Amino acid sequence: MRIGIFGTGGMADALGTQWARAGHELLVSGRDRAKADALAKQFGARSGTWREAADFGEAILLALPADRVPDVLAEAGPLAGKVLVDCTNQPGPTGTEPPPGTPVAARIAALKPEAHVVKAFNLAPTEVWRMTPPVFGGRPLSVPLCGDDPGALEAVRTLVRDIGATPVDGGGLGRAALLEATAAFVIGLWFRGVDAQAVLAPV
Ligand SMILES: NC(=O)c1ccc[n+]([C@@H]2O[C@H](COP(=O)([O-])OP(=O)(O)OC[C@H]3O[C@@H](n4cnc5c(N)ncnc54)[C@H](OP(=O)(O)O)[C@@H]3O)[C@@H](O)[C@H]2O)c1
Repeated sequence: MRIGIFGTGGMADALGTQWARAGHELLVSGRDRAKADALAKQFGARSGTWREAADFGEAILLALPADRVPDVLAEAGPLAGKVLVDCTNQPGPTGTEPPPGTPVAARIAALKPEAHVVKAFNLAPTEVWRMTPPVFGGRPLSVPLCGDDPGALEAVRTLVRDIGATPVDGGGLGRAALLEATAAFVIGLWFRGVDAQAVLAPV
């Protein structure tokens, strides 16, 4: 698959490394072209503008701060038929605030109705996305996906399987708000030093 990577930070690096290893073609874009060049080199790929990465990718990973996504999408131009993989979280400055306003996935879908948004990869930290494979006590990590378009969901299922994890149907994009709230809640626990893993007992 051709994947445009928006962002050059931890999530772009972790997931991009896995997908490059799995044989996908990547094009990296970031606000700092030197960082995009360096990351692209690491993937054996090339870098480009937001628009070039958007044109290139059948899927586009939005590995950006949630509140920066709208501006970047505006610069990326029309995204007809593209799969927008939304891994963003917006936990707030201390991690204990309620998630602000409209869920990020819904905002993205409203801004780019011509594209297909799939919420995924927001529930685990970069350390997990770097694992080869992400398996815990013999159980592969399950990755819930929320989206409305069957083709886009199938594409993201492939991207999940390609990192050695198991895709899980999380329902339609309307349920992405629950994934965002779950992440915000767990990150809030973690900020307060709570053992968040112990909250969800492995029954
Ligand atoms: N870190 C995690 O464990 C984790 C896990 C799940 C989901 N997420 C979510 O995934 C997304 C990316 O996280 P990350 O850890 O990769 O973040 P990060 O390491 O801080 O990287 C963020 C990227 O966004 C860019 N950026 C920042 N402000 C920007 C702006 N105004 N315009 C354009 N680009 C801008 C940064 O560019 P510069 O390098 O130039 O600043 C960098 O390329 C976030 O929404 C986060 O909540 C993170």
